[in-house]
Amino acid sequence: MMTISLIWGLAVVCGIWVIFGIRRRKAGEPPLENGLIPYLGCALKFGSNPLEFLRANQRKHGHVFTCKLMGRYVHFVTNSSSYPKVLSHGKYFDWKKFHYTTSAKAFGHRSIDPSDGNTTENINNTFAKTLQGDALHSLSEVMMQNLQLILRPPGLPKSESSVWVTEGMYAFCYRVMFEAGYLTLFGRDTSKPDAQRALILNNLDNFKQFDQVFPALVAGLPIRLFRMAHKAREKLAEGLKHKNLSKREQVSELISLRMFLNDTLSTFDDAEKAKTHLAILWASQANTIPATFWSLFQMIRSPEALKAASEEVNGALQSAGQKPSGEGNAIYLDQMQLNDLPVLDSIIKEALRLSSASLNIRTAKEDFTLHLEDGSYNIRKDDIIALYPQLMHLDPEIYPDPLTFKYDRYLDENGKAKTSFYSNGNKLKCFYMPFGSGATICPGRLFAVQEIKQFLILMLSCFELELVESPVQCPPLDQSRAGLGILPPLHDIEFKYKLKHL
Ligand code: HEM
Ligand SMILES: *[C@@H]1O[C@H](CO)[C@@H](O)[C@H](O)[C@H]1NC(C)=O
Ligand SMILES: *[C@@H]1O[C@H](CO)[C@@H](O)[C@H](O)[C@H]1NC(C)=O
Ligand SMILES: *[C@@H]1O[C@H](CO)[C@@H](O)[C@H](O)[C@H]1NC(C)=O
Ligand SMILES: *[C@@H]1O[C@H](CO)[C@@H](O)[C@H](O)[C@H]1NC(C)=O
Ligand SMILES: *[C@@H]1O[C@H](CO)[C@@H](O)[C@H](O)[C@H]1NC(C)=O
Repeated sequence: MMTISLIWGLAVVCGIWVIFGIRRRKAGEPPLENGLIPYLGCALKFGSNPLEFLRANQRKHGHVFTCKLMGRYVHFVTNSSSYPKVLSHGKYFDWKKFHYTTSAKAFGHRSIDPSDGNTTENINNTFAKTLQGDALHSLSEVMMQNLQLILRPPGLPKSESSVWVTEGMYAFCYRVMFEAGYLTLFGRDTSKPDAQRALILNNLDNFKQFDQVFPALVAGLPIRLFRMAHKAREKLAEGLKHKNLSKREQVSELISLRMFLNDTLSTFDDAEKAKTHLAILWASQANTIPATFWSLFQMIRSPEALKAASEEVNGALQSAGQKPSGEGNAIYLDQMQLNDLPVLDSIIKEALRLSSASLNIRTAKEDFTLHLEDGSYNIRKDDIIALYPQLMHLDPEIYPDPLTFKYDRYLDENGKAKTSFYSNGNKLKCFYMPFGSGATICPGRLFAVQEIKQFLILMLSCFELELVESPVQCPPLDQSRAGLGILPPLHDIEFKYKLKHL
C-alpha cells in the first residue's frame, strides 16, 4: 500500500510542486521543516514513526515547529502546558473544515458542511442531543442488553455454555463490540434472528475490509484503487438505507433523528444519507474496538488490576442488588452506578493513554499570531495547527515510567479520579486527550467509556478468564494508523474464557 501511495503522490502532485516551489520561512514564523520530497514533504518520516519524528524535531527546533506534510504546512505545538493556550485561539480556527473534507473523502458522501449549501444540519447539535444527557441513558441501557444477548445468549444448553473456548482476544472484542454497537445504533430486526446475525457478521467482514484502507483514504488516495474495500463500503452503506433501517426496532435517537429530519439533509438522497450513517458507524466503532481490547488485555495481564477491578465490580453489583445468574437474568447498572467505578475508569484511561495516537487538527481561517507562554508565532491562512497528545501521554516527566501499565495511575490517595499531573512544576490542565480537545472533542466519549465498562463488568462477573500464554508479551501497536485514534495491536493474543457456573 505504501508503494502505491508513494507512486500516486509523486506522479500526480509533482507537477503542482514544480509550479509552486517550496515555502520559505518568514520572520516570526516557527522553524520550518520542508522535507526532501516534493509534495509529501516529511510525510514518509512522519508516517513511519510520528512519535520519534516529532521528538527529533522538538530537540532540533524547540516546542513549536512547522512541517510540510502532504502539501500542507502543519504547525506542531508540542509543549503540553501550552495546549490550553492554543485552544483559546478558537476564533481563528476552522474546526470543521478538515473533518468534513476528510469524511467526504473516506465515506464518499457530498459535503455535509452547511456553508456549502447542501445541508442545514448542525451536526454538532445533533451529536450533543443524541449522544449525551438524557439520550445517553437509553443508549447505555440498550447497549447493556445487547452485550448480554451476545455474551450470554438465552437458551444456551448447559453442556455448551460451560466449556472453555480459546479465541484471539482482539477478534473476540471486535466481534462482540461490533455486533452490540451496531445493534445499539441501528436497531434490531426481531423478525428473523438467525438471518439477522448472519447479516451483522457479514457487515463486520465488510467493515474490517473497509477500515483497513481507511488510513490511505484519509491520506487522499481514491477508494477506486482498492476494489474490495470499495465494494465493502458500498455494501455497508446499502444496509443503512432507509428501507433497511425502517424495518428495525429500537433504532437509536442519533440515527432516527437523522433519518427523519427533512429539513437537514434535504438535498441528500437515500443513498447519500446512508453514507453519512456509515460515517457514524465508523466513528462509533473504529476506536472503541481497539480501546476495548487494550482495556481487557491490560486488566487481565495485571494481577493487581484484575483483583481491584473484580472487587469493585462485585461491590457495585451487590450494592445495586444485581446478581448474574445462570438463567441469564439481565444485569443492569444505571448511569450513576456506572459512573461510580473509579478503578475501571483508571484502567480504561491507562489503557487508552498507552494506545492512543490521535492528531488534533485545526485549520487557520486567516493570517494570525499564535500567542503562547514562551513566544508568539505567525501563522498563515489555511495552515494547520496540530497537537499530537501521544507526546504528552508518553512524557516521562508527566507519567513516570511511561511505557508501563499502572492500573491505579489515575487514582488519587482516596481512590477517586486523580486530576493533578505536572510538567516542569506546572499543573497541567490537559493531561489526558485520547478523545481530542476543545470544540472537536469526541461527542461519543461518555458513551464510549460506559460501553467499555459494561463489557468489562460482564467479562468479570460472568466469565472465567485466562491468558493462554502467561506471562504474555504486550503486542506492539499498529503504527500504520497513527493519527487516527486508538491503535490496534499488530498481532492478536490468545485467551480462554468460560461462562461461570452461577
Ligand atoms: C474509545 C473510543 C473512542 C475514542 C478514543 C474516540 C475518539 C475520537 C476522536 C479523537 C475524535 C476526533 C476529535 C477531534 O478531531 O478533535 C472523535 C470524533 C467523533 N467521535 Fe469518537 N471516539 C470514541 C468512541 C466514539 C463513539 C462510541 C461514538 C459514537 C457513538 C463516537 C462518535 C464520534 C463522532 C460522531 C465524532 C465526530 C465529531 C465531529 O466531527 O464533530 N466516538 N472521536
Ligand atoms: C450540492 O449539491 C449539488 C447537486 O444537488 C451538487 O452539484 C454540488 O456539488 C453539491 N455541493 C457540494 C459542495 O457538495
Ligand atoms: C436491505 O434490505 C433488502 C430488502 O429487504 C435486503 O434484501 C438486503 O439484504 C438488506 N441489506 C442489508 C445489507 O441489510
Ligand atoms: C418528513 O417527511 C415525511 C414525508 O414527507 C413525513 O412523513 C415526516 O413526518 C417528516 N418528518 C419530519 C420530522 O418532519
Ligand atoms: C512548557 O511551557 C511552560 C510554560 O511556558 C514552561 O514553564 C515549561 O518549561 C515548558 N516545558 C518544557 C519541557 O520546556
Ligand atoms: C459543539 O457543542 C458543544 C456543546 O454543545 C460545544 O461545547 C462546542 O463548542 C460546539 N462545537 C462547535 C464547533 O460548535
